[in-house]
Amino acid sequence: MGELMRRYWHPIAATAELDDRPTKSVRILGENLVLYKDRSGTMGLIDALCPHRRVDMSYGIPEEQGLRCMYHGWMFDETGQCIEQPFEETVHPDGRFKEKVKISSYPVETMGGMVFTYMGPQPVPLLPRWEPNDYDDTWCEVGIVELPCNWLQCMENSMDPVHLEWLHGYWGVHQEKMKAERTGKPMEIFPTDPKSHKKIGFDQFDYGIIKRRVVEGTTEDDTDWKTGHPVVFPQILFVGSIVTGSLQYRVPVDDTHTMHYTWFFYRPGPGADKSLLPQQDTIPYWNVPLYDETGALIPDLVNHQDFVAWITQGGIADRSREILGESDRGVIMYRKMLDQQMAIVEDGGDPLGTVRDPKVNESIELPLERWQALSHPARLASYAPTQAAEPLANIANIEKILQTWANETPWVAV
Ligand code: FES
Ligand SMILES: [Fe+2]
Repeated sequence: MGELMRRYWHPIAATAELDDRPTKSVRILGENLVLYKDRSGTMGLIDALCPHRRVDMSYGIPEEQGLRCMYHGWMFDETGQCIEQPFEETVHPDGRFKEKVKISSYPVETMGGMVFTYMGPQPVPLLPRWEPNDYDDTWCEVGIVELPCNWLQCMENSMDPVHLEWLHGYWGVHQEKMKAERTGKPMEIFPTDPKSHKKIGFDQFDYGIIKRRVVEGTTEDDTDWKTGHPVVFPQILFVGSIVTGSLQYRVPVDDTHTMHYTWFFYRPGPGADKSLLPQQDTIPYWNVPLYDETGALIPDLVNHQDFVAWITQGGIADRSREILGESDRGVIMYRKMLDQQMAIVEDGGDPLGTVRDPKVNESIELPLERWQALSHPARLASYAPTQAAEPLANIANIEKILQTWANETPWVAV
């Protein structure tokens, strides 16, 4: 499975993190690495430990070109090549020691305020440019959190439409009621009206799986069945609408930890005054809290409700003891696809969704239903990431923007 995951680009940081601190420890696919930005602006992702005496170079010094280890000053460039060994070079001015010292490194690219890496074999595929990444009038931000569970639990949840009704609907409302009773304040979030599911469906497409549903009061002519929305294989969920939504990346850290990067976007809908949306010089990021002041998992936002489900399944959910039913058809399909795609990689092929054609990669459209039923401005505001570095609610003119949006397009959450 690790070999398959290495065939895809994964986010490892928000670009703004490196403005705040020019090195970042990155643990991904079981490897300890350091991401740095040197003073010329070049980024590198190299082994975390200096090959000299094995100290952690996330404490190192980014120089004009390369990262210098803080212990004895050896310096490395973004290919992992040692380019300076101050004392060795003093004692052996003509020596070639440094040329023989090279550590592992991986390519990095930036897009939409995030830094991505590819850890697989050559030739390196293109970093896919999904259509939302391409909007030129988008306000976006990145939410980052490490979860104490295996990445597959997150992805299986995205293949499970029925949980919307229960985890986010019924349990979500229950949580809000309890909070309102506890605090004496009115319910902050407009409770989801959980419509019961009548039918679920899944289809493979060029970049993953399209999920479909028919809920009470809708038919197969409605967009949530006709269009659906995608899981981008193997590790991204795309939800929302054309004006507000998110790409959620689930990046394996190791067997029992996952980095969760949510790339939120907001944009004026068709016909809206685009000048209302402020310009962004930097795309902000925020560290998503997991626990409340009592030490319990936070239950009252949609993403957090999912976190509760994934984390409480344990570090690695014990599939040998599950009892699957009709609601798990998507989960079963996804597991089979993982097996199929692993076999393709073993046979030397490119797995599903590998992008190598620059023309295709100008902008890759993803199917997305457009629900009209939930379009209350207060509802949109309530789902905005309230812990954001710059909360959505603080954006100038947000009321007007939301009102425009509300007339155009709403929110869907799964
Ligand atoms: S341990 Fe890094 S230079 Fe010596
Ligand atoms: Fe969910």
